[in-house]
This record gives sequence, C-alpha cells and structure tokens, in this order.
Amino acid sequence: MCGIIGYIGASKAIPIVYSGLASLEYRGYDSAGIAYFLNDDIKVIKEKGKLINLKEKLNFDTDTFLAIGHTRWATHGEASITNAHPHSVGKFTVVHNGIIENYSTLKEELKMRGYTFKSETDTEVIPALLDYYYKDEQDILKTINKVSKKLIGSFALGIICRDDANAIYALKNSSPLIIAKSKTGNFLASDVPAILKYTNKYILLDDGDMAKITKDTITIYDTNLNTVNKETLTFTGSKKTAEKNGYEHFMLKEINEQDKVFKDTIGSYFDGTINSLEKNFGFLKNFKKINIVACGSAYHTGVIAKHLIEEYANILVYTEVASEYRYQKNFYDEDTLVILVSQSGETADTLAALRKAKNDGIKTLAIVNVLGSSVARESDYCIYTKAGIEVSVATTKAYLSQLTVFSLITMYLGYINKVIKKDELESIFKDIKKMPKLIKEEINNYQEYYNIADKISKNKQIFFIGRGLDYANSLEGSLKLKEISYINSVAYQAGELKHGTISLIEASTPVIAIATNKDLVDKTISNIKETKARGAFVIYESFIEPVDKFYDEFIKIPEVHPILESILTIIPLQLLAYKVAKNNNCDIDKPRNLAKSVTVE
Ligand code: M6R
Repeated sequence: MCGIIGYIGASKAIPIVYSGLASLEYRGYDSAGIAYFLNDDIKVIKEKGKLINLKEKLNFDTDTFLAIGHTRWATHGEASITNAHPHSVGKFTVVHNGIIENYSTLKEELKMRGYTFKSETDTEVIPALLDYYYKDEQDILKTINKVSKKLIGSFALGIICRDDANAIYALKNSSPLIIAKSKTGNFLASDVPAILKYTNKYILLDDGDMAKITKDTITIYDTNLNTVNKETLTFTGSKKTAEKNGYEHFMLKEINEQDKVFKDTIGSYFDGTINSLEKNFGFLKNFKKINIVACGSAYHTGVIAKHLIEEYANILVYTEVASEYRYQKNFYDEDTLVILVSQSGETADTLAALRKAKNDGIKTLAIVNVLGSSVARESDYCIYTKAGIEVSVATTKAYLSQLTVFSLITMYLGYINKVIKKDELESIFKDIKKMPKLIKEEINNYQEYYNIADKISKNKQIFFIGRGLDYANSLEGSLKLKEISYINSVAYQAGELKHGTISLIEASTPVIAIATNKDLVDKTISNIKETKARGAFVIYESFIEPVDKFYDEFIKIPEVHPILESILTIIPLQLLAYKVAKNNNCDIDKPRNLAKSVTVE
C-alpha cells in the first residue's frame, strides 16, 4: 500500500527511482510520481494509473542525482494527478505512506495561517506544516522533528527541501521505512525489493526515527535529535526472488516455489526430533488458551489452526479477524497467548491488535514472513515463516508457510499434551518427509486443474463448501478465486447451505466441495447431493474416492495426516483460481483495488 523510494548518489537518479517504483508495484497503487532536483529547483512529475503512464512523461537522461518517488494507493481523494504524490508546499516536497488521522484539524489551522490546498489528500498538510515551521526554525532537521510531533497517524516520509540539494530526509512512524547504502549512492525505501539491484544491506528505522541521507553519509536521529546507531541487516534471499524468472506472473512463480518453502520452513524449526520442537516451541507450554488474530488469508490459516490445535492438542483456540479484535472486548488473561499471523508484518489492523494485547499485559507471538517488520519486532515471541519475498498480491507461498508453522505447533502441543502418541507422531514425521514431493506433484498436475478452470471461468458466482476443517480450507479457496478473478465467490459450511444460501444454486452454478475429514465425508456428500439435485456443477476435492458419481469433476489429492492435509488441499485451488483469472484477462499479480501490504485501517 503506497511505495516510497528515494535515491541520492553518483548515478542519474530518475532511472533508479523509476525502477525502484517498479519493484514496489506489488504493494498496490493507482497513481505515481517522482520529484527531483534540477538547477537548484525541485521538479515534480505525476501521473494517474500504471507506472508506464508516468514513464512516458519522464526523461531518464535528466542530469539529476537526487530523486524521490511514490506509488499511491488512494485513501483520501480519488486516484488523480492532483492527488498523486509527491506533494509540494513552499520549499518542501514529500512522499508519504500511511494516514494522517488529524489532517482535517491541521488543514483548518493551516488555512487560517493563509495556506491553500490543491489536493484532497491528508498528505498535503505535511509539506505545509514543514513550510510553516521552517520559517522560524531555519533548520530542516529541527523543523521535521517539530512537525513529527504535530502529526497523529502512520507515516513513512521522504522529504526534500529546496534549501538543501544534497540530502533526502526521512521520518518514520508506524509505516515501514528502510535506509540503504550502496557503492553508487544511498537509498530510502518502503521495502527491500526496491534496493536489491544495488545492495542487500539495509537498516530498519524505528518509530520516531529521522534520517538525513546524503551521497556519502546516512545519519539517523532519535526524537531528541541525538544521533543513533542502528544494526545493518543483510537480506539473505536470492535477488531473483523479486523477479519473475520466466514465469508469466509472480503468482504462478510463487505457487511453484511452495515445495521449497515447505522444506525451508520445516527445516528452520524441525530436524526430525522432538528436541528441536522443544527448543523452538517450548515457550508455548506456558499457555492454556490461544487467540489467533490476523487478516485475509493469514486469518484463514488461523481458522485452520483452531481446528487442528483444538482437535490434536486439546487447547481452546479463539480465532478472530484483527479489524474486529482490536475494538471488541477480549476475554484473555495471563494464561492466554495471542498469536498474530502476517506475511508483511505491517498490516495496520494486525499491528493494532498486537498493541492492544500487549497493552493489556498479554503475551504475544508473531508468525511473520518479513524480517524485522513491526509485528515481528513488537511481539514477545516471533517465528519467521520462510517464504522469501512474496510479490503477488494474492498470497500463496506465504499462506502455505503459515500453515506449515501451525502444523509444527500442533504437532508439538499435541505431543506434550499427550493427545498425539509416539506412533502417531512418527507417522506425521514420515508424512513431513513426503510433503515436498507431494506438493511438487500437485503443482506439476496443473493441467488437470486448468481444464476444470476452463469450464467455470464464465460463471458469475462460484460456491465453496466444506465442514469443519474443510470449511476453513474453503475460505481460502474462495478468497483466492474472487480476489484475482473478480468472480463472486462465497465459502459456506456445507450443512448451513440449506438454511438460505441454497436458493442461489441454479443450473450450472459451480459448487466446489472439499471433503478431507473422514468422519464427516458422508455428511458433506449429502449436502453436495442437495446442490446437485438443483443443477449445480459439482467439483469434488478429496482423497476419499466416492462410491457413486455425484460430482462432475473430481480433484483427487494425496492423503497425509490431517495436520498437513490443508497444505495439499489449497494447491489445486490456487492453480484453479490462477487459470480462471487468466482466462478472464485479469491483472493477476495486481488485482484492482487491492494492496499487498494493508497499512491503513
Ligand atoms: O501481510 P498480511 O499477511 O498481514 O496480509 C493479510 C491480508 O491482507 C492478506 O492475506 C490478503 O488477504 C491477501 N490479498 C490474500 O491473498
């Protein structure tokens, strides 16, 4: 959600900043812009829509060595050239990721001081405030520090001032911002992919930090303007993780990486012995209740985990979406562990839920993919998923890595709580070994799922049904399909259908029914038959071979222990969704209106 990049150095800045913006495209945006220094003045170029529109207005050969750029995901005001960033007032030009919650009050105050505003954005008050306070301070850092105390909300800012053609200034609160040093110049950026072409070393700014970045130096200041030293981190993944590597879409590439992601995630915490689980998950013993809080697909892994942990570890689990959890009354106590699940680790609602729990003195565990992200840093405990950089807005490999961590947690808790006995544990260990091969086989089986996708791509709505754990699997199958194909899709508990929703089933309505729970399969089949009797086009997904043919298509998946089964259940559904979206010419990696990292409420 909004991407920021800034560069100052020995190379021409516009091509570098433009390519940085291109690597932040995955975050989601609907307009973009660049500001740069030329002949001691600041030039701003902005455009609506895709980056290619901006490219047409830029001269890559311009003799400028300092530029800041922005991709905007509209919140305050429509996607337009006027609302696009950078925003300039007086001597200051800024790019901003986040939301200024008190912008209306600030705007009114600034209007009374004679300022006028061109855009509908919350951001424009920032350069106006900078301009206003700079008149007295005459010192850029002191001015930024003063303004930071007036702003309420989330902000990662790149700031340039006409009085200093040799520096980019940065300020961070709640929205992510990194600083990086390379051989040919220095950077600020929202995320690592933007700098990977030039360096894999970076510094994470903390809330309240300010930075001054020149061609040769990076200086970081705290809220009292004292300089601070920060650890330099190294991105250890391959640069290629942020490239398509010959795949048509990042989503397809990321689906294809899932056997490796499973191996990497398992391998980080489990070496085939219970001791390794004890070492990595031993702290879980201290808790009697678990709350899992997350958004979107990450929330779906929480729904699956609830079923697994309750069934196999006898521990009460409550799962809730973060945007609800953060405002509701929560019945947690010192025996409760709140688990926050997030790919980005920057999702505003998840972060707010984490802060609420911490504020109430409740222990928190982050299951997060992005190293050093806010959720990871602020939680008491952190388990990193090992999915690598995920670019496609629709999560696939990060979702699978979250499920993998939950499998390990369930296995460990199940064993220490004596629900999973030694024999069963050993059979799970055996299944874990088989998983990468099984995952790869499913991926290689894509043509089978593509053929089914071709039969349903023109439908206006598609239902997913299942019971228990399979309902939880349905939630993700349905989200994957609707977010990238724009086909309306609903996941329903199979037994609940007859209480209203079945009225929507008509001739040829696709119903994707998941049945991996042996105890419930007959019940689910009865519900499937109810839809078939009303003309549904039934796609049945299971490892249980049916005796009679009540379906139109059968997606046969391999059977493993239920703790691992959801991983094998989702892969055909990811590929099915991908092909439906492709058939409908949708923008698969950047679906309309969506952002990769949702850093606003
Ligand atoms: O970064 P997070 O895991 O916290 O993001 C949560 C959701 O925004 C995310 O899973 C979203 O639902 C995806 N678009 C699903 O593919």
